[in-house]
Amino acid sequence: MASITVSDISKAFSGQPILRDVSLDIRDGEFLSLVGPSGCGKSTLLRIIAGLEEQDHGSVEIGGRSVDAERPGRRDVAMVFQSYALYPHLSVYDNMAAPLRQRSLTQFQRGFGLARLLPKARRKEAEFRREIEATATMLGISGLLQRKPAQLSGGQRQRVALGRAIVRHPKAFLMDEPLSNLDAKLRDTVRAEISALHRRLGATFLYVTHDQAEAMTMSDRIAIIMEGQVLQIGAPSDVYHDPADLRVARFIGSPRINVLAGEIDGSGRAVLLGRAFDLDIAPPAHGKVQLAFRPHDAGLCNADTAQLVGTISHIENLGSDILIHLALPGSEEPVIIRESHETAIHRRLGDSVGLKLDSKKLLVFDETTGKRLRTPAQTETAS
Ligand SMILES: Nc1ncnc2c1ncn2[C@@H]1O[C@H](COP(=O)(O)OP(=O)(O)OP(=O)(O)O)[C@@H](O)[C@H]1O
Ligand SMILES: [Mg+2]
Repeated sequence: MASITVSDISKAFSGQPILRDVSLDIRDGEFLSLVGPSGCGKSTLLRIIAGLEEQDHGSVEIGGRSVDAERPGRRDVAMVFQSYALYPHLSVYDNMAAPLRQRSLTQFQRGFGLARLLPKARRKEAEFRREIEATATMLGISGLLQRKPAQLSGGQRQRVALGRAIVRHPKAFLMDEPLSNLDAKLRDTVRAEISALHRRLGATFLYVTHDQAEAMTMSDRIAIIMEGQVLQIGAPSDVYHDPADLRVARFIGSPRINVLAGEIDGSGRAVLLGRAFDLDIAPPAHGKVQLAFRPHDAGLCNADTAQLVGTISHIENLGSDILIHLALPGSEEPVIIRESHETAIHRRLGDSVGLKLDSKKLLVFDETTGKRLRTPAQTETAS
């Protein structure tokens, strides 16, 4: 097993920069997810690590050794693709055996089907069979070994693709959106299987997804990448509760975080839609900020006593919880508040209600740079 270190990787396609000085350190045995919107360069970075694409600048180390000069086969990492990339004409067994045979037998032995005849090759085949059967049992596909990929469901194909990666005992697994072709229910199942697999193998996993919920539930750490740059790396709860950048705050969390434009006045208070909230923050030079809070970090109250009053514009019943959308005068987007079923059941569309904000839960971002501005208390908690 091995750590992966990516240092200052840059890559452009036709003069268009895709990755800009990306650095990442994935620890030995860690499950790190790379998340970001479509087109931000996630697959490109994975392909560079696997050696399928060449970087313009920067270096990749696997297990503490530079692999920049090594071709993909020698890097000893297994890539699992969204599209499974199985050979359609081969059985499940032969699909799983292909990388093993490729590595250990000469082209001559493979090409002429001599694998079954030569004693050394026969011993190897027996070894492969044991490995493939054990892996298939672990993945629950041992009854499918003689089938062709076309005779399998999406989830079964995905398991074969995983199995083909596992039998090689690679130093690290690189997975590029392996669940995106599965329906929602199956995705939950295979997601749990991949997490269990990570625990069982203790291998290094670099997992690409644009589904933040998937990343939050599976990973030791998450790296958020946007516009070719890593914006933040941290444990799921850190990036959720303590985002360093407004783009991270907006990307992580469902329902989305609420963001309202405001400013910080001379005494460090936040002024939001004409109302002041105590914050104790050093304002940016121009004073303009974006104030953000999670749907469960604010509440609704009686309109008469509230600092901010709005109108209920939409009610989303999630079953256990209810999301109340509140239109505030002066704000374009409604604010979303999560309430328990018991509390929210009496709310009606068009009701006038107050918004109760907890200034300790407000996240403040510089309007120009999007960077987080912390109060002394938040700085203390973060460190
Ligand atoms: N071989 C290539 N030639 C030219 N442009 C490319 C090539 N590969 C990728 N790109 C471009 O680079 C950008 C990043 O692509 P990449 O596949 O890495 O994105 P991604 O983050 O994996 O997106 P998605 O979530 O949609 O899979 C895209 O704009 C894409 O069109
Ligand atoms: Mg991709």
